[in-house]
Amino acid sequence: MEFLRHAVVLVHLVGFAVLFGSWVVAATGARKFTRVMDGGLAIAAVAGLALAAPWGTDGDLNYVKIAVKLVVLLIIGAILGIGSGRQRRGAAVAPALFWSVGVLTLVNAGIAVLWR
Ligand code: HEM
Repeated sequence: MEFLRHAVVLVHLVGFAVLFGSWVVAATGARKFTRVMDGGLAIAAVAGLALAAPWGTDGDLNYVKIAVKLVVLLIIGAILGIGSGRQRRGAAVAPALFWSVGVLTLVNAGIAVLWR
């Protein structure tokens, strides 16, 4: 069970890498939201929700931390949705929205690693 939990953490990290990596590529290029970002967010969300249940671990889960991460993830998803909608209508993504996705993704990784 512990091995399986670690495997799900790995999948969670792949989601983070896909989301943040595709955002860095966009930040150094077209500054547009992409479907790859949506995919990374979805992978991180599904694996994160699986990890939010107490299985495969002896320690207690920090549910305040998990709830904060869920809220941040929902905000990132809302921003990606709003920005992608504007892009479909031919408008550019507002710089504040674009940068928020990268910053909030890093914030969530920081919360995961630094909040003990
Ligand atoms: C963009 C969104 C997210 C990012 C960038 C992110 C990032 C990370 C990272 C880097 C870790 C590894 C930390 C470590 O092992 O020290 C982690 C672990 C974890 N994440 Fe996330 N996360 C996100 C969303 C979520 C969501 C939405 C949930 C749950 C609702 C969640 C639940 C967890 C849990 C429970 C762990 C600990 C796994 C364990 O040690 O058993 N994450 N996250």
